[in-house]
Amino acid sequence: MRQQIQFLKHFLRNPNKVGAITALNEQVGEALVKYIRQAKTIRPLKVLEVGAGYGNISKIIVKELKGQDTLDIVEVDKKCCEHVENIFHDNKHVNIHCKSILKWSPNYQYDFIISTLPFNSYAIEFVQSVIERYENICAKGAILSYVEYSGLMRIRNTFSQGEKKSMIKIRKEFLDSFKDKFLIEKKRIINNIPPCNVYHLKMPS
Ligand SMILES: C[S@@+](CC[C@H](N)C(=O)[O-])C[C@H]1O[C@@H](n2cnc3c(N)ncnc32)[C@H](O)[C@@H]1O
Repeated sequence: MRQQIQFLKHFLRNPNKVGAITALNEQVGEALVKYIRQAKTIRPLKVLEVGAGYGNISKIIVKELKGQDTLDIVEVDKKCCEHVENIFHDNKHVNIHCKSILKWSPNYQYDFIISTLPFNSYAIEFVQSVIERYENICAKGAILSYVEYSGLMRIRNTFSQGEKKSMIKIRKEFLDSFKDKFLIEKKRIINNIPPCNVYHLKMPS
């Protein structure tokens, strides 16, 4: 309960950047780490999590890491970063970067990216820049796993008009065409609040 109130406050501080009133549940986390769990040959793994919030998905990712595997967490909200730093300060796998993903330019690439950014709350330009960034920092054959609060998008679309409605359409078309190129699996999770889809995309080898 305390965690949910903490997350609700996070949403109220910045509704557009957070995009949901509750943290993602464990079932979403398990779906997001599916391909990391299956990674047998490529080791050590380089994993990036974007938008950690209070770290509930990060904890599920960390359980999958072994040996020299590393997890970079990029989160823009200072309070969330402090919280996540407290959880993982003595974890040798984890590095936390308190900044926007658009300001994160590592000099290496990732085998796995897990993103819980609420794309359907953002302007199209931001979504395009983030996807471009993901493509640039993905290693060949990397898996990008991300969440989409699809029901919210349908509600927004129904009640929007004019410029806003066409922005929603353009954003949807952009994300659909990205998925069309690289999608390998989609899982619908209805017991999360709100329900969401988890997408797994495989970048070209
Ligand atoms: C939908 S919440 C997901 C939080 C958490 N992963 C969970 O399990 O619920 C999205 C998170 O992305 C963060 N965020 C938003 N824009 C960001 C950006 N440009 N770069 C990094 N993190 C961002 C927000 O602060 C928020 O914590």
